[in-house]
Amino acid sequence: MYDFRPAAQTAKPELYHDLLQAAEALTAGERDGVANMANVAALLWEFLDEVNWTGFYRMVEGELVLGPFVGRPACIRIPVGQGVCGAAAKSGATQLVEDVHAFPGHIACDGDTRSELVVPVLRGGAVIAVMDLDSPALGRFDAEDRAGIEALATMLAERI
Ligand code: SME
Repeated sequence: MYDFRPAAQTAKPELYHDLLQAAEALTAGERDGVANMANVAALLWEFLDEVNWTGFYRMVEGELVLGPFVGRPACIRIPVGQGVCGAAAKSGATQLVEDVHAFPGHIACDGDTRSELVVPVLRGGAVIAVMDLDSPALGRFDAEDRAGIEALATMLAERI
């Protein structure tokens, strides 16, 4: 049985340290990328508060295609350059959006979403996937969330 539980009222850097360790342990030695993405999406869902979607889009034949996630059913294909995910895929840079209504071209998969954090997963300099976290709260994600998810994306680059 896996029992990765965040300690109550943990500061964010510590929370992300524990999350990274849990994700590392959960994916160690497993070569199936889909299984690893599914478990990490579930871990994010369990560790983070105020999120309504946690998951992955994978780069498949030049466009983003829905991968393992927790949350409401979502848009399946996102062209590179479109929406927050497409912007992350195109630039290879994290997109931290405090208010999705103010982001030109934001793709509303869930009308409840107000803020979003999208982190590209890079392997050999190429974007192979993006990690997407959505929240119904305005300004839910900050620099500490960004650093935490970026560390996770770096660790996962060889495991998905
Ligand atoms: N809002 C994203 C689309 C993906 S869903 O949020 C799961 C975007 O603008 O790219």
